[in-house]
Amino acid sequence: MTSTPTADAAIEVRDLTKTFGSFTALDSFELVVPRGQVTGFLGPNGAGKSTTIRILLGLLRASSGRATVLGQDPWTRAVRIHHDLAYVPGDTNLWPGLTGGEAIDVLTRRDRSAAHRRRREELIERFELDPTKRCRTYSKGNRQKVSLIAALSRDVELYIMDEPTSGLDPLMEAIFTDEVSRLREDGRTVLLSSHILAEVEKLCDTVTIIRAGQAVESGTLPELRHLTRSTVVATTSADPAPLRALDGVHDLVEDRGTLRFDVDDAAVHDVLPVLTALDATALTITPPSLEDLFLRHYGDDLTQDAEGER
Ligand SMILES: Nc1ncnc2c1ncn2[C@@H]1O[C@H](COP(=O)(O)OP(=O)(O)OP(=O)(O)O)[C@@H](O)[C@H]1O
Ligand SMILES: [Mg+2]
Repeated sequence: MTSTPTADAAIEVRDLTKTFGSFTALDSFELVVPRGQVTGFLGPNGAGKSTTIRILLGLLRASSGRATVLGQDPWTRAVRIHHDLAYVPGDTNLWPGLTGGEAIDVLTRRDRSAAHRRRREELIERFELDPTKRCRTYSKGNRQKVSLIAALSRDVELYIMDEPTSGLDPLMEAIFTDEVSRLREDGRTVLLSSHILAEVEKLCDTVTIIRAGQAVESGTLPELRHLTRSTVVATTSADPAPLRALDGVHDLVEDRGTLRFDVDDAAVHDVLPVLTALDATALTITPPSLEDLFLRHYGDDLTQDAEGER
């Protein structure tokens, strides 16, 4: 596991366990969110993301282990940490009788500066929210916009977002991506739980993948990519036997002069001269996407889940 010193971490979770009766939702879970970075938090339904986030917000008490948020224990220092963090829940419940604008005001009641007002207006415009409508009339996407505008308008050190783009259309998702990029340029810290791999791939410096309450991978995207294989496609009329003979080359298929195979990261160096000797052209080497990484970890689980639901 990573051992970033606490001073550089906005969030540090060590050996965290949370049980609900006999069910273990978090099992010696570890998470480090470095300051000034965007950390992606990935895992399938029920893996424990929201449970972790609730502990970080002081809404749930850990069964054992340690969670530190901005140097504080969230359970005993909830008031303190909420001064310095903004939270976006994935399923926003709002006051039905308030307008969107009023709901934003309630959610940001500590922030009353002129700068905050300007930022609020800017975000309302960017996310194309009509703040005069009552919350009860908002669609899911519009409720989500209220949460996002409230959180993003706050001038805080840490932003914790639990699937913040659920319900947003692609245009609004692009605005969200842009806003988080700005936070990052501005040196803020973001923990972003998401199912949208492209979003995580675009935004996140480091990623932690959780499965059944345990961290299964954690690191920068290039570090995680090293754990898997790149895909090579090339055209050649020569016999690819020398490639097959190489360690680190997997699943080679040949189709009318096009070769396709996977290669371990460490073996790319050995493969290139062989491809040259085979007179290969139209060569592409594609690193694994986050989706490949994710499916490698969850492919079996997801298939089983889908079967269970049928
Ligand atoms: N209050 C609770 N009582 C009992 N079990 C709970 C409770 N809260 C969460 N769980 C269980 O803990 C596990 C983790 O749930 P959690 O909501 O953290 O998952 P998640 O990763 O956020 O999933 P999703 O992607 O669907 O939001 C699930 O199996 C869930 O049923
Ligand atoms: Mg959740």
